[in-house]
Amino acid sequence: MPRIAYVDGQFVQHSQACIHVEDRGLQFGDAVYEVWAVRDGYVFDRDGHLARLGRSLAALSIKPPLHYSSLMVVIRELIARNKLKNGLIYLQISRGVARRDHPFPPHTNPSIILTARSLNQAKADERAQKGIRITTCPDNRWGRVDIKTVNLLANVLAKQTALDAGFDDAWFVDDQGMITEGTAQNAWILDQVGRLRTTKASPAILRGVTRDKIIEIASRLGYPFEERAFSVPEALKAQEAFMTSATSFVTPIIAINGCIIGDGKPGKIALSLRTAYISQQTSVKINSKH
Ligand code: PDD
Repeated sequence: MPRIAYVDGQFVQHSQACIHVEDRGLQFGDAVYEVWAVRDGYVFDRDGHLARLGRSLAALSIKPPLHYSSLMVVIRELIARNKLKNGLIYLQISRGVARRDHPFPPHTNPSIILTARSLNQAKADERAQKGIRITTCPDNRWGRVDIKTVNLLANVLAKQTALDAGFDDAWFVDDQGMITEGTAQNAWILDQVGRLRTTKASPAILRGVTRDKIIEIASRLGYPFEERAFSVPEALKAQEAFMTSATSFVTPIIAINGCIIGDGKPGKIALSLRTAYISQQTSVKINSKH
């Protein structure tokens, strides 16, 4: 696959793509990002991610560098130039380049970066069919993780610690003992009484675009659902556990902290939600390829 990136108005070879040393995203983490999944050429949840991008930019008072319709043209072009069929589109927008000083610089244009990367869809599907094993760790992030900023150090460290200990990922636990979310996904269980549960949207979680779609699908399929946090012991006793994100869609969890969840196999409800989500997103009626 050719690798082409988009930086500040230009398509460039990925290997040549670079940003300025004084970019505020680099110096301060003064930047937001978004991620779109591409599957069979369809851009998943296009509008949901655009809407959240708008909210993240507004929360940091960064002016959108492109009109959203122009951004979609760039994304389409990036998909075409990279011949991307299955993969991910990453977008980062920073406040721009300025001499390193904490206050917002008065006359700086935001910087924009878009990259595309391919993904082995068969492998991702296989992972979902097998399920993953996770651990839990203290949620030591800042108080506004509802804004999709590039400040992901706590997430990176939690993920690496989980991998080093032989797990596939980790769920964050707040100081009340409640699970907030995963390192890059929202957290879900099917509780002991058969109710789907995920943490209520608040500044303590990133309100996933996939999460919101799964809530809609669960209601359409008639699955009881409650937006309510759950503790680690509740998760361990759950019938099913799973996570949702643009990168993993719906991925079943078969063990938490070494305890088997349910019968130790990927949950049926989780897999049915995965199938329903993928087929909804690839239905031509709601998601044009063009
Ligand atoms: N992560 N929670 C966190 C902390 C996340 O980073 C993400 C997404 C989600 C799920 O959001 P969505 O369903 O809109 O993808 C929840 C992206 C995929 C990433 O960082 O790569």
